[in-house]
Amino acid sequence: MKHIIDLDDFSIEEIDLIIKKAFEIKKEPEKFSDSMKGKILATIFFEPSTRTQFSFQTAMYKLGGHTIGFSNSSNSSVSKGENFKDTIKVVSSYADILVIRHFLEGSSFAASLFSSCPVFNAGDGAHLHPTQTIIDVFTILEEKKELNNLKIGICGDLRFGRAVNSLIKFLIRYENITFFLISNENFKLPESLKEKILNSGNSLKEVFSLKEVIKNLDVLYMTRIQEERFKLEENFKQDVILLDEETLKYAKENLVVLHPLPRREEISIKVDEDKRAKYFTQALNGVFVRMALILETFNLKTNLKKEFSNEKLNLKCLNEKCITKYEKYLPTLYKNQGEKILCKYCDCVIKKNI
Ligand code: NCD
Repeated sequence: MKHIIDLDDFSIEEIDLIIKKAFEIKKEPEKFSDSMKGKILATIFFEPSTRTQFSFQTAMYKLGGHTIGFSNSSNSSVSKGENFKDTIKVVSSYADILVIRHFLEGSSFAASLFSSCPVFNAGDGAHLHPTQTIIDVFTILEEKKELNNLKIGICGDLRFGRAVNSLIKFLIRYENITFFLISNENFKLPESLKEKILNSGNSLKEVFSLKEVIKNLDVLYMTRIQEERFKLEENFKQDVILLDEETLKYAKENLVVLHPLPRREEISIKVDEDKRAKYFTQALNGVFVRMALILETFNLKTNLKKEFSNEKLNLKCLNEKCITKYEKYLPTLYKNQGEKILCKYCDCVIKKNI
């Protein structure tokens, strides 16, 4: 069974297969209209969503399948106090694929421990958003044809954005990429991810001004400030870096502007008219990519790498937003990364608690 929790569990070749399939589907979607006949996709969303939820549902309908699910856990037995494990066990027994979005980090991995069908991570807190990354990469490839040698600006909230975290973790597998990290002091990319970029042999430049660097970029990935993930400081709005028509004047003719959406103040509405604005195409691509993911999940026979351990080392994850803090019955699982021991659920460094 192949879960889609973290793209690090997949080889580049496997992701290539999914992307190839998505291009094939985008060309002739009707060819696939019976491929999932009789199958059921469940979407259980504990956090708000428009694109992710609807594009998964649309994808399943276009493949001839059906969907069940909730978009607000207060309408489910979670509001009666049902634990996460029981919800997952039961819903997965009704469905062929389980798509989950949750505000706690590591929730999708936790779901995979109890699910009887493949689990797709549709966003677990500030941690990961792997299916969004495949959409982002598909759209970059559609416009630019390759991922190596890219100058990509990532702008906005680089600290709390799961789409950013997933995208960077994936792109560092390619070569000669320069990441222009454009953010204000409060929203800078975490050190651990900067370290990963540099260890991969790619390079990064941290800057505060979009106007200064936009002329260098092939791709500009804009993001909104994830205000639901931290305590609001009254003045966080001053941290919004704006892309407007004026700034776009300095950019290359073939720049590709992406945004996972929803957009707030960071891109002015007028930019939508510019041919370089590709974020609505990107959102539409979500349907084709998710159709490909659904189809390929049943073809991919490789297993999730079992590179974690639960040896009794008396370890404890200290991340307040990790699902293991709330669902106490979850086993402590960890993985080694060099000298460090990481929580297998949320990837935070954990300490020996002896
Ligand atoms: C993103 C998310 O939910 O992480 N949106 C999406 O899935 N398209 C980005 C965001 O909410 O800012």
